[in-house]
Amino acid sequence: MPISIGIHDLALATSQHSLALSDLADHYGIDPAKFSVGIGQDVMSVLAGDEDVVTMAADATARILERNGTEGIRTLLFATESGIDQSKSAGVYVHKLVGLPPTVRVVELKQACYSATAALQFAVGLIARDPSQKVLVVASDVARYDLGSSGESTQGAAAAAMLVQADPALLVVENPAGVYTEDVMDFWRPNYRSTALVDGKGSIKAYLNAIGGAWEDYLAQGGAPFEDIASICYHQPFTKMATKAHRHLATMAGGSPTPAEVAEELDETMRYNRLIGNSYTASVYVALASLLDHHEGDLTGSRIGLASYGSGSVAEFFAGVVQPGYREHLRGEEHRSMIERRTPLDHTAYEVLHKTTLPEDGREYRTARESTGPFRFAGMRDHQRLYESA
Ligand code: HMG
Repeated sequence: MPISIGIHDLALATSQHSLALSDLADHYGIDPAKFSVGIGQDVMSVLAGDEDVVTMAADATARILERNGTEGIRTLLFATESGIDQSKSAGVYVHKLVGLPPTVRVVELKQACYSATAALQFAVGLIARDPSQKVLVVASDVARYDLGSSGESTQGAAAAAMLVQADPALLVVENPAGVYTEDVMDFWRPNYRSTALVDGKGSIKAYLNAIGGAWEDYLAQGGAPFEDIASICYHQPFTKMATKAHRHLATMAGGSPTPAEVAEELDETMRYNRLIGNSYTASVYVALASLLDHHEGDLTGSRIGLASYGSGSVAEFFAGVVQPGYREHLRGEEHRSMIERRTPLDHTAYEVLHKTTLPEDGREYRTARESTGPFRFAGMRDHQRLYESA
């Protein structure tokens, strides 16, 4: 009998600060409904000056280890497109901050918002070879666009840490997966920029096309029909995008749901993302946490679809089955209070933070203490990043 492999535990982390999109709308003198209805976002997470992808990832990973210990963990896969070094994996900093043993291999993966899904599939492969091993898959990202650009309202930040193992408590990852790759310039960030370049409208078309392609490949590989999938968690650059993608797949499957029906169907998958914004690689797993944490009925035995998209572009569609007793392993209270305890910024403070750039000439500096989280980025010395635990 094939062994069951999948997600045993899932913990999220986000930033110290937040900005209400109604404040952004006020600042630009536009109708707030453009954001709350038009793109389906209410609030976005904003990093403090002493936070980055490592501090968020370490926060989420530490909570996974607090509950599960380190036994059996042989690999940490760090997925990000907000890399902090051209050579060294951000995951090695996390490895040290959370106290993992030296007998854990660490590597970083990149393909825009998609790489956490690749990491999850690679983890499943490693565990299939040796079911006694466990893998930490950690996705952490900061979505940043230029002030005044159309992407500004779709910023955000979060990390999702997952413990992947045999006989998981939450979700067994099924075979097959459908994949789709195409070279498209819809969104990219050259090494000399701290904000992404994006063809906004083109990126929506590229997302729909790639998700459609991954869905067709999923079916061709013997995947479950649309009607056998209880709920689908989409990559959510903004939640309206998930509703567009769901209508697209529903139409391909011969349905014709109204926008209101789709919004209702996806609601539980979109609650965290509406308040966090785009978290790139973490986003589809934030959607999964949102569904599991908010669904009132029992999802045991339900097949959940995961639709992952990374600009540039790669998409993957796969499914997982929710496991008996999953509710005892959720972190709903923890996630909701993490989102609620962010400090709301006014627009002026947000703009100051956005414009603040850290020195890039190799000079030594210390960051001001701003974050109250368990880990902080303290500055640079001798070209080395300094991190501190609270
Ligand atoms: P925009 O030009 O500011 O907005 O850009 P718009 O004018 O297209 O309006 C957006 C929607 O709001 C429209 O609805 C309007 O009708 C509606 P739609 O036609 O799309 O259904 N609207 C209103 N609704 C109610 N009341 C109003 C109102 N006014 C307008 N008063 C855009 C929007 C998403 C293009 C921009 O924010 C952007 O460029 N974002 C960044 C790119 C992005 O997120 N792309 C998504 C697909 S690519 C992806 O997911 C990958 C990514 O995560 C990166 C990665 O992989 O690493 C981005």
